[in-house]
Amino acid sequence: MEFFHKTVLLKETLLALNLKQGGVYFDGTVGGAGLACKIAESIGKEGKLIALDIDPDAVRTSRKRLSKFGNSEVFEANFTEMSNVCGQVLGKFLGCVDGVVLDLGVSSYQIDNAERGFSYTKDSKLDMRMSQYGKSAWDLVNILGKFELANIIRVLGEEPFANAIAKAICRERVSGGIDSTIRLVNIIERVVGYRGGGHPAKKTFQALRIAVNRELENLNKALDEAIELLKPAGRIAVISFHSLEDRIVKQKIRQWNIPCTCPQNFPICVCKKKSKAITITKKPITPSWEEIIENPRSRSAKLRVCEKI
Ligand SMILES: C[S@@+](CC[C@H](N)C(=O)[O-])C[C@H]1O[C@@H](n2cnc3c(N)ncnc32)[C@H](O)[C@@H]1O
Repeated sequence: MEFFHKTVLLKETLLALNLKQGGVYFDGTVGGAGLACKIAESIGKEGKLIALDIDPDAVRTSRKRLSKFGNSEVFEANFTEMSNVCGQVLGKFLGCVDGVVLDLGVSSYQIDNAERGFSYTKDSKLDMRMSQYGKSAWDLVNILGKFELANIIRVLGEEPFANAIAKAICRERVSGGIDSTIRLVNIIERVVGYRGGGHPAKKTFQALRIAVNRELENLNKALDEAIELLKPAGRIAVISFHSLEDRIVKQKIRQWNIPCTCPQNFPICVCKKKSKAITITKKPITPSWEEIIENPRSRSAKLRVCEKI
């Protein structure tokens, strides 16, 4: 299957990064290299783009697509490893890049490739691992206890029927494991039914995907690394696709802006922590109607940007 992904908020993200000829940039979610190719083109031969993805299919594709620019290196790694990867390439671990971009979530290729098990409309084995290593959705659905499963579905999927779904999964898996996406979808459909608020399995699938890939833990860790990796006046741009991710990005940028940890009732700051960054986007940038019509998968996207002091 050909690797297809239409980059969301492309123009807005390129503008936000304030790209400079000869600059050094880091793309932690290179995917099909839609954004990365534009960065590589803009920074010229003297520039450097370090890119990575956790998915071997994305790494293979983006290496091919970026090779013509002669200024890019692509690694198969988790973006929580960005300091190590940049250290290997640049010989420095801190203050060494002009911009970091994270375009979170899954690519269209991952969703549309039935074998990967991300889609609730295509039948396949229950997988959902972006890296293709480690525990899969099958392990969570067939091994976790009822309360742990319900907690994942409630918290990461914001699914009000989490308890009932977890109970039904645990009941059904007794008679042979739940091996396929469609078997899981059928169980969820029987519990939730069609209520006009999107596909009944959407929230549970989102929850399982986030849990399998440890998406929230990874994002937290990556943002802590990203701010240290930036040069002064360097920028971080993050595109998120659901409220849990956006909340982490928003809180992290706020913490960098106002780092004071003194209790609220202290009349003056005694912790003396200094701001690390200023906010560039007070409100997140969202796709235009034209973009949403052309690419409905962009509709929940939010871009937040900050600049290192
Ligand atoms: C929305 S796509 C990126 C699309 C890309 N910006 C483009 O323009 O083609 C998200 C990508 O991030 C990757 N990804 C998600 N979590 C990751 C992580 N922790 N480390 C590295 N890559 C990750 C996924 O495998 C996927 O390829």
